[in-house]
Parts: sequence; structure tokens; C-alpha cells
Amino acid sequence: MSTPLLSVRDLEVTFRLRGGLLRPTRLLRAVNGVSFDIAPGETLAVVGESGSGKSTIARAVMRLLEPSSGRIHLDGDDVTALKGEALRRIRPKLQMVFQDPYSSLDPSMIIADVVGEPLVVHGRARGADLERRVQGLLEHVGLGRYHMNRYPYEFSGGQRQRIAIARAIALEPKLLVLDEAVSALDVSTQNQILNLLEDLRSELGIAYLFISHDLGVVEHIADRVAVTYLGRIVEEGPAERIFSAPAHPYTEALLSAVPVPNPRIQRSRQRIVLPGDIPSPLAPPAGCPFHTRCPHVMDVCKTAMPAHTPIDGGGSAACFLHDTGVAGGTRRAS
Ligand SMILES: Nc1ncnc2c1ncn2[C@@H]1O[C@H](COP(=O)(O)OP(=O)(O)O)[C@@H](O)[C@H]1O
Ligand code: SF4
Ligand SMILES: [Mg+2]
Repeated sequence: MSTPLLSVRDLEVTFRLRGGLLRPTRLLRAVNGVSFDIAPGETLAVVGESGSGKSTIARAVMRLLEPSSGRIHLDGDDVTALKGEALRRIRPKLQMVFQDPYSSLDPSMIIADVVGEPLVVHGRARGADLERRVQGLLEHVGLGRYHMNRYPYEFSGGQRQRIAIARAIALEPKLLVLDEAVSALDVSTQNQILNLLEDLRSELGIAYLFISHDLGVVEHIADRVAVTYLGRIVEEGPAERIFSAPAHPYTEALLSAVPVPNPRIQRSRQRIVLPGDIPSPLAPPAGCPFHTRCPHVMDVCKTAMPAHTPIDGGGSAACFLHDTGVAGGTRRAS
């Protein structure tokens, strides 16, 4: 891979949950030893059940929270070490779009101001130039000049996400972090926004950190996929390989729940229903974090932590079924 645009190494984020009269203070490790790279113009999808640490990873990358340990480099700068003016200087390079299109836009601002604000704050444009730039940004996301003087309440959920995207690309960022950005939208609006993101990527060369709890949503947009479980990445690799030959039993289960357009294939496919709930990150299981729900659990999984092992076709999975050095290298035939 060429020099990564974003490089995250051994990221750990721990929250301190304050105790009370009857309960001591507890530590919740929301992100645990997470590492990944994103190349310029690349889309990495981070996928996993709710509570697996995806938003915490996003907020750490955006420097909206302080990691407990680990390093984050953006375009050569150590983001974790930057403060004050130095942090402000790199801000335009990374922008974020949030899940809820109904609360992420200031209801009292007209759209021209919502979209133009970053340009004003960073001293990039004003007056007639600002108006021209805002108009261009709205056109980029499929909205028109006549939308400029309207308020957020006048728009649908999909249009609001277009406005949020226009604002996010105003400063020509190198990385856009999208946290469940299409999850609140209906399927056809989701597809429209995904197409828009594809277009913007080919026109502007932006890289995406695209977060979703739904593996199905990322199939066409992702170059690479990282699957999270209980604060860890359990599998990562090229999207094509993840979708055609998932290696980790958790990825297999997620994939089995993704609908297939062909009803005949859909009927013949076996849905893997995992027993139980995702364990509490306050008391994660010993050994492999997935062992309490894994259909292929072995004795070794209950005590030892599987390391990431390279997988044919690219990427890696943290599972003893693929670790030739442990459990006799029990690679499944299926
Ligand atoms: N500010 C916080 N304080 C305490 N716990 C938090 C905080 N933010 C997230 N968590 C916990 O961290 C874990 C990961 O949460 P999150 O990153 O939001 O997961 P996801 O985005 O994958 O649903 C969850 O158990 C959540 O309850
Ligand atoms: S290491 Fe064991 S428990 Fe964990 S995913 Fe692999 S087979 Fe399942
Ligand atoms: Mg989240």
C-alpha cells in the first residue's frame, strides 16, 4: 500500500464509569488494540453490532475524545499529539457526517449558512465568492440554488444528509468520517446517498471511513472492510474477499443476515443465528471475545486470545480456525 492517509495503531479507549454509594468506579474498554490504515481515496468500512466500539473509533480519529493509548497519524501528522492551533490547522483535512439528519443541522440557520460556515470560520471565502462556492457545493450534492435560503425543517432526511455532506466537503477534506450516515434513511434514499458518495470520491478523491452496523449497506461502497466485535477488529480485508469468502465465524454470521437480491438464492441460504447477546464490555469473556456465541468454539478459544492470521485473498482474521500454529491448524473445509 502507498503511504497511508490515515494510520491508526493499537488504539485503546477506556471510559471511566463513575460509581455510586453501592458501586465502585468501573472501567469500560470500548476500543481495544485497534489498528488499520486508509490509503488516499480509499473507503474503509467498519462494521459490527451496536456497542462494538465503532463510534468511539470515529470520535478518537476526529479527536472528539482522548484515546487512552495508541497513535493516530493523518497525512504524516501525529493527530494524538496535536493541540490548539496545530490541531485547528489540520481540522479541514478531516470532516465528519453523523447518523441523525434531523439533529445534526442547526435548525435556526438557513442552508447557505450551514454549508458556508466552515469556509467563513477558516477564512476561505466571503461575500460574492462565498455565495458562488456555496452554490457550487449544493450542486455537487444534487441540490439547487433555490434551496439556499430555506431552513433544515423544509427538507427530507435524505436531503438533509446531502446538506451535511455539502458542509463536510466545503473545506476539501482528505478524509470524511461517516458514522451510520445512511442508517436512518429508507433503502432507496440510502442508495441515492451511497451513489452520491461514490461520485464525490471519483471527482474529489476523498477517502472515507464509513461506519455501519449493517454489512449489506457497505458491499458496493467499501474497498476494504474491518469487522468489529467487543472493541476489537476480528477480521479485515478487501471487500470482495470478505463478501465472497468471510474467514471469521462472526463475519460469516453477519453476512448470512444480508439479504440477496435473487429470491431463489435467498431461500436456499442458511441464516446463522448467534445464541445470546453481545457480552458486556465491562466483563469481556476470557480468550477469544467471540467464544460465548461462536458456532465453532473449541477448548483453546476459552482461554487463549487468537492473533490476526493472514487469509488467502487478502487481509487477516483473529480466529484459531485459521491459525496453523494452534489447535492443529483446524482449517474448516466448509
Ligand atoms: N461516553 C461514554 N461513556 C461511557 N461509555 C461509553 C461512552 N461512549 C460509548 N460508551 C460505551 O462504549 C461501548 C462502545 O460504544 P460505541 O463506540 O458507541 O459503539 P457502536 O458505535 O459500535 O455502537 C459501548 O459499550 C458504549 O456503551
Ligand atoms: S477463535 Fe474460536 S471462538 Fe473465536 S471465532 Fe475462532 S473458532 Fe470461534
Ligand atoms: Mg455508533
